[in-house]
Amino acid sequence: MASIDVMRDPTKSGKAIRAQLRETIPHVITLLDELCKNSRTLEVFTSLVKHLHAFARETKLSHDEWRLAIEMLTRAGKESTDFKNEFILLSDTLGLSVLLDEVAHPRPDGATESCEEGPFFTVDAPELPSGTSLVKDGTLGEAMYFESTVKNLQGEPIKGAKLEVWQADGDGLYDVQYPDRQEANNRARILATDDGIATFHGVMPTAYPIPSDGPVGDMLRATGRHPHRASHLHFHITAPGYDTLTTALYPDFSPFLGTDPVFATRKSLICPMGLSTDPKEWAELGFKEGDVRTGRVHIWKYNFVLASNAEVAALKASMK
Ligand SMILES: [Fe+2]
Repeated sequence: MASIDVMRDPTKSGKAIRAQLRETIPHVITLLDELCKNSRTLEVFTSLVKHLHAFARETKLSHDEWRLAIEMLTRAGKESTDFKNEFILLSDTLGLSVLLDEVAHPRPDGATESCEEGPFFTVDAPELPSGTSLVKDGTLGEAMYFESTVKNLQGEPIKGAKLEVWQADGDGLYDVQYPDRQEANNRARILATDDGIATFHGVMPTAYPIPSDGPVGDMLRATGRHPHRASHLHFHITAPGYDTLTTALYPDFSPFLGTDPVFATRKSLICPMGLSTDPKEWAELGFKEGDVRTGRVHIWKYNFVLASNAEVAALKASMK
């Protein structure tokens, strides 16, 4: 950091500041280079300034448009709460959140693709054995049976896998969106069996809109987009020695699959679904009398493939 003396008289500092006195804009980068001592901070801000300036030049950004953006960001700050962060929504709806995940978690070919976590993960999900239910009495939605085997890239089942799942209900709402929430619902950490199998009972989630009553909603409308996400299940999947997978699965009949406002839907994560109207089969899947209230059970099967820590480290090294 420049000394007080230098701040008072910039002509006493290095060539970057002297250059700034002559011609400000082209020398922002040089100035950063002169003053910033942290190499990573310097790298991030140098790139930010370069791209920001290039953006303004390329679009010939007007003062009115600049003011509109400032007003939007100001509103985003004022309208963010503990339960709705407009800046995260902005990152999501501009595709930045998905991109960050791709950069941080590259996947070797054959491994299940990742997908953003979204805003509704909580840490209070109960740990349950495979074969149990996520659902508390009175939860809205049609019965759903989920079945998966967790395997490695060599096709072998993984011992010790844990599937943390969380989802919306049949009304498109997560438990945390109910003001009277007393405990976790529609979420659990499912312990797979030693042969990597994890099953659970839930309700079929429905499509839901991301919050669109703030500046991000205005941005979506201004750009002709809608706020609706296709229905989905969220997962964190962990296993000793394997790279943690954060992903989501989508039923193939859901609306909005191709126009996801947060760009998270991937073809490989869209699942063909089954439907059972046979009470005998419901019993075989572990449903008790009264569990199935609408005359049918959605059957959802998907096998996850995890990459080992070593495989991901090798991939990252090859990308440098
Ligand atoms: Fe979600």
